[in-house]
Amino acid sequence: MAATGRHVICRGRELVERGRGVRFKVLRHGVETPAFAIRFNGKVHAYLNRCAHRMLELDWNAGDFFDAFGEVLLCATHGARYAPASGVCVGGPCARAGLVKLAVIEDDADVCLEAVDEVHLVATDELT
Ligand code: FES
Repeated sequence: MAATGRHVICRGRELVERGRGVRFKVLRHGVETPAFAIRFNGKVHAYLNRCAHRMLELDWNAGDFFDAFGEVLLCATHGARYAPASGVCVGGPCARAGLVKLAVIEDDADVCLEAVDEVHLVATDELT
């Protein structure tokens, strides 16, 4: 049976332009998977926290996804670089594979995951 709806990830003010991201977990195809949300050029974007190179989490320290210039999302392990607005690989060992983008919306003051049949919010890091 389809389960749809919106689930709050965090407050919108927690996501500062090109600043630290918010980590959360989703259940995707029945598997609990880390994910994160960031703000770039005013818009919120969210991805599975799985580098396309070796499926490792990207962040340097928990929540640190951007490079020093705030221009790309950077994998801490081998330096794969991704476009913040699309998750497309723009350099490094990710070759042409990109991040898996999640559907999020900023609804009033909240950032919400739009749950679809195969993706559901499990928890934010603050709750785990
Ligand atoms: S695991 Fe991310 S670049 Fe290798």
